[in-house]
Amino acid sequence: MPLVNSRDMFKRAYEGGYAIGAFNVNNMEIIQGIMEGATAENAPVILQVSAGARKYANHTYLMKLIEAAVETSGLPIVVHLDHGPDFETCKNCIDGGFTSVMIDGSHLSFEENIALTRRVVEYAHDRNITVEAELGRLAGVEDDIKVSAEDSSYTRPEDVEEFVTRTGCDSLAIAIGTSHGAFKFKGTPKLRFDILEDVSRRLPGFPIVLHGASSVIPEYVEMINTYGGKMDGAQGVPEEMLRKAASMAVCKINIDSDLRLAFTGVIRKHFAEHPDHFDPRQYLSEARSALAGMVRHKIVNVLGCNGKAE
Ligand code: G3H
Ligand code: 13P
Ligand code: ZN
Repeated sequence: MPLVNSRDMFKRAYEGGYAIGAFNVNNMEIIQGIMEGATAENAPVILQVSAGARKYANHTYLMKLIEAAVETSGLPIVVHLDHGPDFETCKNCIDGGFTSVMIDGSHLSFEENIALTRRVVEYAHDRNITVEAELGRLAGVEDDIKVSAEDSSYTRPEDVEEFVTRTGCDSLAIAIGTSHGAFKFKGTPKLRFDILEDVSRRLPGFPIVLHGASSVIPEYVEMINTYGGKMDGAQGVPEEMLRKAASMAVCKINIDSDLRLAFTGVIRKHFAEHPDHFDPRQYLSEARSALAGMVRHKIVNVLGCNGKAE
């Protein structure tokens, strides 16, 4: 199956009460680990690439690796730009083979966000590419930008109908209390499900996206800390909250930090146990397997999209 945009995938996810995993990719082992997990569970998958990932790995290298994933897996795969910072980056990704882009105007005023998103939607829809937009602002770290808790803001449900109608976007990322990175909550985790409910009442059938949705699995935080890391206080979104969101209007759940933690934890452990190893295949194959296990776990226990590849 060739690369697909997200339209049908989200329609089925909405109707079926499950969500698609959007996993961040930066190199070959990460792509292979994700595809191993998705293939084992026969799940549709979104491979998402940030501006930082494009800078790190090069657009063409990543596209060729994703082409290999398409060819070898036969699964429905969306290749998506994560947090597109401007029109030019979105255009570049669309021209370069992506099937979906996010334009992140969440830091702009309402009117500026609408104008920028509309411009991307016009370019994208002429080429059958889907567009995710964002309203409200998450806390946490993205690329080199750190958004403090004070500068973050929940999505205002009363804004969403006007935003979606005027921009024509295909899905909407909203802020309900999740944040990027491994330190999401200081005390008890809390998500504003009332905002999600209000938004979905106002936008019936419309796919909602949850960013900052890693659970920061304690097993890997402990592994990192055991082998010299310093991640005390790391905390993610409880899995039962994500399952609830996936059964509601949330059709796309973004996961990056959990992949990073598994990958890095296993490599730290590997070197502690084998200080004489220096062949990258020895530790990267273990990291890749841990990542595949993490993706399977997410698909089955959080997203519910196992067996949904069509
Ligand atoms: O939300 C951001 C993603 O985790 C990607 O992170 O910008 O460091 O590649 P990155
Ligand atoms: P996490 O940091 O919770 O994995 O979120 C990733 C994300 O939202 C990518 O856009
Ligand atoms: Zn994000």
